[in-house]
Amino acid sequence: MTDKNITSLTIRQPDDWHLHLRDGAMLQAVLPETTRHFGRAIIMPNLVPPVVTAQQATAYRDRIMAALPDGSHFQPLMTLYLTEDTDPEDVAAAHAAGIATAVKLYPAGATTNSASGVSDFTKVRPVLEKMAEIGMPLCVHGEVTNSEIDIFDREAVFIDKVLKPLRKKTPDLKVVMEHVTTQDAVDYVRDSSKNLAATITTHHLIINRNHILAGGIKPHYYCLPVAKRELHRVALVQAAISGDKRFFLGTDSAPHTDPAKLQACGCAGCFTATNTMSCLAEVFDAAGALSKLEAFASLNGPRYYGLDANDRTITLTKGDAVQYPSHIDTQDGPVTVFEPGFDLHWSVKVNA
Ligand code: DOR
Ligand code: ZN
Repeated sequence: MTDKNITSLTIRQPDDWHLHLRDGAMLQAVLPETTRHFGRAIIMPNLVPPVVTAQQATAYRDRIMAALPDGSHFQPLMTLYLTEDTDPEDVAAAHAAGIATAVKLYPAGATTNSASGVSDFTKVRPVLEKMAEIGMPLCVHGEVTNSEIDIFDREAVFIDKVLKPLRKKTPDLKVVMEHVTTQDAVDYVRDSSKNLAATITTHHLIINRNHILAGGIKPHYYCLPVAKRELHRVALVQAAISGDKRFFLGTDSAPHTDPAKLQACGCAGCFTATNTMSCLAEVFDAAGALSKLEAFASLNGPRYYGLDANDRTITLTKGDAVQYPSHIDTQDGPVTVFEPGFDLHWSVKVNA
């Protein structure tokens, strides 16, 4: 049977290697959208104030566990927000105690709540050296922040100006380039021999910059890194469907309320938690590559993080258009669910 004829597919339960859950009422409302299908997720630490210390990560994990739907087996994998004052010993202790799975690097000013991020990379060298020593991965938001660099070039410039020198200085550091959006990033990961992998979001596999800007501005498609031109989207799809173990799913599902998105200076983020697996099945099906979906969504991520794949499985079934809500209600206001621009035909069931 070729991939084109597949109408039912059972794969290991997927994980999300880059997720924003926020806190409080928003956490409560969006968490079930992820736990419905996913076994684990890497939880982003860009709260206000950010999750910097082991103690803060423990408290945040406790709040997530308390918000879990009844009977959920979901496991949050916590990250620490890297600042210029981060203590290498606190990071090492959090890792050893199983509190923190990875550290997150935001260049200062790159995106939502990144003001406490890193400006002077020499200041974080001791932390990076310690992480290399203990085998703790660094998740990187790979965009330079210089205002004179064109926003569509910021990822490619980051690779040359920041990531290459950083990895040369600390070759044993395990790096995840997150939410890659360019052919340049795909090539860079493919050309590396070790200690580099990349996550790809659902929305960057589906939209290019025309979707945001042509025929009227679409704030719900605005995220960071911003979607690039079509050739880059195609490169991302090729990487995702390749089976290459260095590419895996990180949705970067990032809820903002509609009032926060729909204003003169709207927030960056696409909320894809609700329909990601159906969207991905559609993308992989269209590419004739459904047999590679499991590697991308369920196998490559845990392998890079040194974890086992989930024991549970999910079954995707092709049929009539799948219904999903246009938005999620939260006590802070509605959050619009990512609209891929085509019908979704794959329903998802988690097997007992
Ligand atoms: O679009 C984005 N939204 N990109 C990020 O890097 C952060 C995220 C958020 O936290 O809203
Ligand atoms: Zn993110």
